[in-house]
Amino acid sequence: MANYDFNEFYRKKKGMNTWTFAFATDIHVGTPRSFRYQPAWNENWQTARRQIIEINPDFLLLGGDLARDGNIHRYELEAIKADLDRLPFPYHTVPGNMDTGNKHTDVTGPFVSRDDVSLNVQSEQLEQFCSVFGPSQWTFVHKNVRFSGFCDMLAGSGLREEKALWEWLEAQTKLPKQQHHVWVMHSALFIEDPHEPNFDIRDPTHYHDWYFGIDEPYRTRLMEIFKAAGTDLVLSGHVHCRKTQYAEGIRFDIGPTTAEAQWADRWPDGDPTLGFLNYAVTDQGIEDTFVPLDKVSTAEGYGPGGHPVPDQRDYSIASEKPSLEAVGLTESKGEF
Ligand SMILES: [Fe+2]
Repeated sequence: MANYDFNEFYRKKKGMNTWTFAFATDIHVGTPRSFRYQPAWNENWQTARRQIIEINPDFLLLGGDLARDGNIHRYELEAIKADLDRLPFPYHTVPGNMDTGNKHTDVTGPFVSRDDVSLNVQSEQLEQFCSVFGPSQWTFVHKNVRFSGFCDMLAGSGLREEKALWEWLEAQTKLPKQQHHVWVMHSALFIEDPHEPNFDIRDPTHYHDWYFGIDEPYRTRLMEIFKAAGTDLVLSGHVHCRKTQYAEGIRFDIGPTTAEAQWADRWPDGDPTLGFLNYAVTDQGIEDTFVPLDKVSTAEGYGPGGHPVPDQRDYSIASEKPSLEAVGLTESKGEF
């Protein structure tokens, strides 16, 4: 797909008012200074980046998990920020759990290798993300469409930033309505149905249902805010498997990753193919196109997956040696 102009394609197809925006998520770009590094994921992002530039959208939205371990390594956040800043169009991003810490829990899950309580999002991690990327909640209007994004890991966290988030979210419902309202968050609002019960983190058969979604009462509160804010479309990531759901008149798109697929067998219609989404805003509505990666890298990396505790992070295997200051920037915290 060389120099393919989606905007021109849609203008011819739908009329002159058509324009596009792209959505990528969970790109997980790392660095060889880390205790783990998958160059394939970096190469895949460069492939997606080139394809997005060829499409030439008005802007790019990102659903978080920009870095491999952004919650641990500020230098990884800064590296992907520098890459994104060189795009020839604007971008807007929310943080993901690998950028700031996970959804809050008071009890740990069933896996001995994962201390869930220690992975809870912390203010210091959120501050680190915001010091690199700016505010974690934002809203703007582009051509009669409002776009809003926020850090959903704060919901139920009890952190001082949570109260301000809810106040900001409620305020969005009072803004003048535009033609459409598109939201960006990291987690899926729900797994099967917005009225599903909370999944039990301690149940190994439902751990990932817990991990990828939002619990009540925050799920219903967010749904009410989305409805009151005139929402058409909610974009999220985290799952690494593309899936579309509809609830209460709103479309929910879980975007594909460019890094490594997960949960391919969770839903019959889930698509684990790596890529990104391109949306055309036409007189008829918002139309999505899935764009698979032109090429998927097979480069080999090193280091453990999951959420290794600090003493399991061996920086001596890093192919590029980080400074002690870089390694010790944050107390080590920290599937995707
Ligand atoms: Fe992720």
